[in-house]
Amino acid sequence: MAILEVDGVRIAYDEYGEKTAGGHVVFIHGFPLNRTMWEPQVDALRGSYHIVTPDMRGHGASEAANGASTMERMADDVRALVEATGSAPAVVVGLSMGGYVALQFARKYPELLRALVLADTRAGADSDETRAGRFDMIQRVASEGPAAVAQAMLPKLLSQRAAAEDAELVVKVRRMIETTSAAGIAAALAGMAERPDSTPLLASIAAPVLVVVGAEDAVTPPEEAERLAGAIPRAQLAVIDGAGHLSNLERPAEFSSALREFLSELSAPEPAIG
Ligand code: MLT
Repeated sequence: MAILEVDGVRIAYDEYGEKTAGGHVVFIHGFPLNRTMWEPQVDALRGSYHIVTPDMRGHGASEAANGASTMERMADDVRALVEATGSAPAVVVGLSMGGYVALQFARKYPELLRALVLADTRAGADSDETRAGRFDMIQRVASEGPAAVAQAMLPKLLSQRAAAEDAELVVKVRRMIETTSAAGIAAALAGMAERPDSTPLLASIAAPVLVVVGAEDAVTPPEEAERLAGAIPRAQLAVIDGAGHLSNLERPAEFSSALREFLSELSAPEPAIG
């Protein structure tokens, strides 16, 4: 693990593969998880690509700063990391909260972006109800700690099948949540609650985009992914059968193969026109 200090905040990350390989891929995890959620994709791709997996501020081994961890602030952290690791232009892969951050990155730093992968995520801002739920959760995490967040979130993050049958995955996800600090969780909840609606941005994204969704995703269902892909000019959609919200962990081989196919299309020559 390496550390980059960004505006006085220590951001942890791992780096894999050779810079001379097929290009740079940066993976942004969901809430309230950490960089280790990308282990299956790192294993699948590290021989062919240069990979960077950061812990977003307040998650994993990265420090939390004072105030909300806004999606914009996290996108700035990713930019600092892309520059420090010589990873531009990068394919930015974000799942759920990672997708919110990836959209902010696309808005602010299009020149650093090779392509986007938006997994199990949405462009819209929170509804009033979702926002109120986040503020309740901020209270709960302060009084009951991260275990209460794990309890509330696990049934939404995993499909019913995974929750019932994949004990190892349940333990892994629970551990990621429970080892996130209460301060980091609260800061990310506040940041997500105030995130802007990215829908107006979608039509102007010039980079190729892969939208991925688990067919059983209860948080950002396939209809949401269809809307997202439909609003982005160069987007394609991959639906992962049998997977819930954490599609990359529930169906790692299928997710990695959709990703690999998208990445290899990026390096293929553009078809001749006319
Ligand atoms: C995530 O998986 O990152 C969260 O479900 C995002 C959210 O709470 O909106």
